[in-house]
Amino acid sequence: MKTINNVDINNKRVIVRLDLNVPIKNNKILDDTRIKKSLKTLNYIIERASKVIILSHLGRIKTDEDKKNNSLKLVCDYLSTLINTNDEVLDDDLIMFENTRYFDLDNKKESNNDLELAKYFSSFGDIFINDAFGTCHRCNASNVGISNFIPSYNGFLVEEEIENLDRLLNNPERPYVVIMGGKKVSDKIKVIENIIKKCDKLIIGGAMAYTFLKAKGYEIGSSFYEEEYLDFSKNILDKYNNKIVLIKDNYNQNKELIRIEDMKKDDIGYDIGPDTIELYKSELENSKTVFFNGPMGLFEEEYEYGTKELCNILNNINAFILVGGGDTVNAVNKYVPNNSFNISTGGGASLEYLEGKKLPGVFYEEEV
Ligand code: 3PG
Repeated sequence: MKTINNVDINNKRVIVRLDLNVPIKNNKILDDTRIKKSLKTLNYIIERASKVIILSHLGRIKTDEDKKNNSLKLVCDYLSTLINTNDEVLDDDLIMFENTRYFDLDNKKESNNDLELAKYFSSFGDIFINDAFGTCHRCNASNVGISNFIPSYNGFLVEEEIENLDRLLNNPERPYVVIMGGKKVSDKIKVIENIIKKCDKLIIGGAMAYTFLKAKGYEIGSSFYEEEYLDFSKNILDKYNNKIVLIKDNYNQNKELIRIEDMKKDDIGYDIGPDTIELYKSELENSKTVFFNGPMGLFEEEYEYGTKELCNILNNINAFILVGGGDTVNAVNKYVPNNSFNISTGGGASLEYLEGKKLPGVFYEEEV
């Protein structure tokens, strides 16, 4: 990888692309993980460069209303309280552009990687550093396009994230357990196909477990499942039966605890139960590598038992643990705030990398 360590940025004008796309509600930043994880690279650049130009997107911009609701002003104000500046750094040497996706109102120029726009961005600097890991799976003007015009490298966050993901893909310390949750199998088929070959156990919880349970022939009541992924789930179960760990009991819409084999027509599974937690615990307690992506139940809506208990189990084991996905990161921060997990700032980006795809925002030396 071409990283910031491979280039002299002293007294250069440096453009740095960050992923400051954070959840905001009522003018409050709900989770500042991405902002804090950007600081290492940003401070390193501020200490050396003659001028720093920060780029980021926020949200998705399709209408003028979206534009009004997705200004980076709040993020900019917060960021300025965190960075290392001193009197020697003049205000006009540290600049943050407004949301790069404002340019999407003009023919999706940012998202479609319009090269004129990329050239315009590049004209502000001598060197480009992409540290927006969460956006590395997108080929946008502000994270990939610029690299056509000025020397380009990745920052410390992208380097760390790729190193962590490589630990899951190449020679992970074993036992290696992957925990997948969340609603849909359809979002994760490619990653399941690739990662199941590498891990020792795949724990499937959350709503996506019901598609697998139904494929196995269980009555799942009125729980959410994806009809069109039953065949996929059945194939995976047939091929990797000894690796897959499913759920044994669950809480329904009335918070009644029901064993899976006792589910009735009207039951809707919203969370996993204590027997399932015991099963997960037995799989996890000796593990050495864990990837956790997707909550076990509707934890935002009072069905928090499974996700919370799982977070506690993970917090008490001695393993390399990587947590990915916005909801999952929120959950671990909520239930085990002082955890020492490795937190990925990119849900989509980390899944695509684990699928085996090359991320366009990660820059490598050209092969000769
Ligand atoms: C993310 O939150 O996954 C990244 O910031 C990318 O955002 P996007 O999915 O809107 O491209």
